[in-house]
Amino acid sequence: MNRKYRKTVIAGNWKMNKTPTETKAFMTEFKTIMPRGRWCDVALCVPAVCIPAAVRTMRETRIGIGAENCNANASGAYTGEIAANMLLDAGCKYVILGHSERRAMGETDADVNAKVLAALNAGLTPIMCCGESLEQRQSGITTEWITMQIKLGLAGVPEDKIRKVIIAYEPIWAIGTGKTATAEQAAEVCTFIRTTVRHLYGARIARSITIQYGGSMKPANAAELLAQPDIDGGLIGGAALKPDQFVDI
Ligand code: 13P
Repeated sequence: MNRKYRKTVIAGNWKMNKTPTETKAFMTEFKTIMPRGRWCDVALCVPAVCIPAAVRTMRETRIGIGAENCNANASGAYTGEIAANMLLDAGCKYVILGHSERRAMGETDADVNAKVLAALNAGLTPIMCCGESLEQRQSGITTEWITMQIKLGLAGVPEDKIRKVIIAYEPIWAIGTGKTATAEQAAEVCTFIRTTVRHLYGARIARSITIQYGGSMKPANAAELLAQPDIDGGLIGGAALKPDQFVDI
């Protein structure tokens, strides 16, 4: 990480875990054991129904609450969907977009792009995920794949809004598998992502963008990953479900 130019953001992604009651219990405990230092921003992205409990419990803290998805439309006949401005009004600051688990359910780069634009318009900070499968890595097309995801995902994002976007590099083969990318592998792709942003928006903006690594990050490997110059934080699944583990990271 490089704290001179950009924010370090440690974010949890709860995925489809915890009820509102469990959310309140987690947040209450987390609040008491959370160190007071200000060296990074901390976010917890939780299931939609848990947002009110999370926001209420964390009201007087610096922990930002986020959602795990949003719809690209502002309102309308989209049964079961949630718009970005609804998340903002509910107290969210962040929204995870384009997670590989959602892409596996059919979300395309065009969908991710529309959601990124909607989130930015509403005033949310999108955490836009990208990452290659094991097959793609073994075929040697990781950088091409990531370039495509970044270019399509950020299409039409204006210069004055791009600084708000957080990019999370999550190699699919490292998610929930206990198999972390080595610090070198993660660093290589995160540096490549910054280069891609530089080609799109110039050096000054590229330098200020927060790039996270996600995929089996835990207390035991976080320090080494976060020591890499282009890794500015983590997007943490499993280890964000236990207050003590998340605090340790
Ligand atoms: P794990 O930390 O459980 O591997 O999940 C990573 C992830 O998908 C975060 O979005």
